[in-house]
Order: sequence, then structure tokens, then C-alpha cells
Amino acid sequence: MKSSIAVVVLAAGAGTRMKSSMPKVLHELAGWPMVRHVLENVGRLGPSRVVGVVAPGADNVAAAFRPHPTVVQSEPLGTGHAAKAALGLLTDHCGPVLVVFGDAPLITTTSLRRLLDAFTERKAVVGVLGFRASDPSPYGRLIVRDGELERIVESKEADAAERAVDFCNSGVMCIDGEKISHLLAALRNDNSKGEYYLTDAVAIARARGDLTIAIEGDEEEFQGINSRVELAAGEAALQRRLRKTALEAGVTMIDPSTVWLAADTELGEDVTIGPNVRFGLGVTVASNVEIAAFCDISGCRIGKGARIGPFARIRPGSDVAEDAHIGNFVELRATKMGRGAKANHLAYLGDADIGAGSNIGAGTIAVNYDGYCKHRTVVEAHAFIGSNSSLIAPVKVGMGANIAAGSVISEDVPAGALAFGRARQVIKKERAAPLRAKLGALAAAVRQARHY
Ligand code: UD1
Ligand code: CA
Repeated sequence: MKSSIAVVVLAAGAGTRMKSSMPKVLHELAGWPMVRHVLENVGRLGPSRVVGVVAPGADNVAAAFRPHPTVVQSEPLGTGHAAKAALGLLTDHCGPVLVVFGDAPLITTTSLRRLLDAFTERKAVVGVLGFRASDPSPYGRLIVRDGELERIVESKEADAAERAVDFCNSGVMCIDGEKISHLLAALRNDNSKGEYYLTDAVAIARARGDLTIAIEGDEEEFQGINSRVELAAGEAALQRRLRKTALEAGVTMIDPSTVWLAADTELGEDVTIGPNVRFGLGVTVASNVEIAAFCDISGCRIGKGARIGPFARIRPGSDVAEDAHIGNFVELRATKMGRGAKANHLAYLGDADIGAGSNIGAGTIAVNYDGYCKHRTVVEAHAFIGSNSSLIAPVKVGMGANIAAGSVISEDVPAGALAFGRARQVIKKERAAPLRAKLGALAAAVRQARHY
């Protein structure tokens, strides 16, 4: 029988290199705080429990862990000290304890599982995920001999020979649950940083005659994020990964490197995405949807066969049904577009329900806000809203009604009715030339007055 896994996520470091008033692990990648990525990745291992270690007063970090419990590390005295803080919530746990860092959001479940499998199979007491770093300088070095991990040397403690080693510590460590408290109790802080290094658990276990191992993974997964430069690099790596997954699932991207996806973007088969499209959180796109260049889309569902953009903005709470068209410079906010409904150019539809097959003319505005409250506009099916109309909410346009172009509609329009909401046009015959003569004379007089 496989023993259950407990996960400890360390997130109590000061994160000073971010130069931010916000804790490091709350900085976002693909729309999610770093730590949420870590929680999703470890969550897929099916752990029996996950414990977060947070700094005193970091309530927002603790909130990001919920529903998982957190413990507070009283002072940032190192990764080993942080791991020790979690032991109180692991007293009845005897399976492997996986320790991961909140600042390493790119580590995949596959790599974690490889470590756990090797750890269990080889009956190791400590197992570490390592990688060959193109620039090893910021990392702890894994010293391996005869297929076993001998010790980990932090960069600052390393001698010249150790510094030349490019096999580095990712920070992910798997420790025998029955031995973890003894190992952590033996950590000392007699090093250059005066910290309790979790990495010293390797040498301590070996001194007790226990087996310690290292598993090698891919560098791109293991980049820790300590600064804004690394945050940007992490974002780029995650975007490459999200795009690749989408392309492999049957999405066409004309210029993938310009498409920005959120961690939870769901794209159906045969979706086509033009250049420079950004997805915010909470977007689901059904199959055969075409999204043209320069669209910004968040918090919405887009139905089969819909056509979006170019230059469309769809904001949270919107729902675009099958075969609807949202054209250039059209903004939707909390708006439902019925099946086959069209808003092809230059419109703002906020808090609106647009019925199936309705046509929204260029320049239409659903006037949803009176400065205090938002109100809904309802346009029933197969209505026609002429160009440059304002629909002052709350208002309802009935099924099949027709709104004349340039109307300001502030009262409900019954089904099938034709509504005009504009001043009647006035014609004054033969008056164009006299008007121009009068304006011309006036302008000449002004010019002359300026001369004197
Ligand atoms: C650590 C490792 C190093 C490894 C590198 C990988 C140690 C001693 N060093 O170095 O071998 O190559 O990660 O990125 O483990 N934290 C706490 N409390 C503390 C200190 C840290 O919770 O007192 C947390 C941080 O929030 C962070 C993680 O532990 O999530 C790692 O800490 P950090 O200071 O970034 O360690 P590194 O110097 O990067
Ligand atoms: Ca780090």
C-alpha cells in the first residue's frame, strides 16, 4: 500500500529582492499568485494534507493557502527553521513529507511524482529534485557520488571545486515522515548566513547511515523567483508552456509568442487566435471560435462558432452565445449576447441582455450607470438597434422592435414597434448659399479688425 504524502509549502521568506510591499508569493503569473500554482501542482499528487508556512502578520498569504492550514514561522531563520515550524501539524503523519518552496511555481506534478516514486522505490530518507543550471551561481550545489547524494552546499559556503558543479538544488525535498523531526532537530546555523539550512538535512541523514538521493529534472521548471526580472522570466516560461498545451489541443495561433493566456483559460478545438490577444482569468472558449488580433478577453464564456474582434474587449460576467459576432472596438461588460446576435463595430454594452439574432448598430451604447447604480438593458430577440443609439437603462426593447438610428431610448419599446428617439429633421429650402454668404462676410470682418 502506498503511504500518504504530506506537503509543506515554505512561504515565509522576506522576499526583499522583489522590492515590493506585497509578499513575494502573491506576485502573479498567468493571473494566479505564485503560491496558487504551487498548490495546484502539489494538489494533483493527492496529498493527505498540505501545510503552508507563512511570516507573522502575512494574513493575505495565509488566505491564499485556504482551505489548507498555515503555521507562522516566528522569524525568518532559514528554510530548515521554516520546515520545522510545520512539524506541529504533521505529528500523526508517517509517510513521505514533500517540502516545496512558494517561490517555485513552475515545477510540474510529473517531476514531483518522479521524485516521490524514486524516493519510495529506493527507500531513501531524503530525496532532492535537482537540475543542471546554465548559471549555477545562485543555487545550492548537489554533490553526488556513486549515484547517491552526499550533501548540498550552499553557494556562499562552496569552495572552488564545489562552485564548479552545475547540478543544483531546486529546493524540492522529500523526507521520510518518521525521521523528519530528528533530522530537523539536528540542523545548526553555524554558516555564513547564520540560518538553519534545510539542505543540511542531507548530510545529517547520511551521517546516520541513511540513503539520500537526487533526481534530475529540466532547468526551466526549477527557476526560483526572487526578483522582478525572474518574475518576468517565469511568466515567459509559463506562457510558452500554456501556449504549447493549447496548440497541442487543437488551437491555431497565428503568432503564438504574442498571445497571453491565463492559467485557467480553456480553449476548444479549432479555435483560431490572431496576434496580440490577451486572456484574463475565467475564460472558456468553445470550438470553432475565431478571435482576431488585439482582443482583451476576461471572465466570460464564448460559444461555438462565435467571431470576436479585431480590437474587441470582453469584460467579466459576459456570455457570448454560439455564432454571435463581436466586432472591432466593441466592449462588453456583464453582457449576454444571444445566439447569432451581432455588434459589429464601435459599441459599449454594459449590463445588457441582447437576444438571439439581434443587431446592434455602430455607436450603440447601453447606458448602464447613473453615477450611483448599474442598471440592465434588455433587447429581446431579433431586434434592430440603429447606429448611434443610446439605450438608457433600465430599459427593454421588445422582440423584433426597430430603433431608428441616432435614438436616445429611455422608455420601453414594445415588441414589433418602431421607435424614434431623436429630434425631427427640419429642411429649409435654398438657405445654404445665404448662410454661407453671411458666415463669409463675418469672417472677413474679423480678419480686417485684427489688421488694425
Ligand atoms: C534555496 C536553497 C538552495 C536552492 C534554492 C532554489 C536553502 C538553504 N537553500 O535558496 O539550495 O538552490 O533555494 O531556489 O534551502 N523561506 C521561509 N523561511 C525562511 C527562509 C526561506 O519560509 O526563513 C522560504 C521562502 O519564502 C522561499 C523558500 O523558503 O519560498 C526559499 O527561500 P530563499 O531565501 O528564496 O532560498 P534561496 O536562497 O533561493
Ligand atoms: Ca529562492
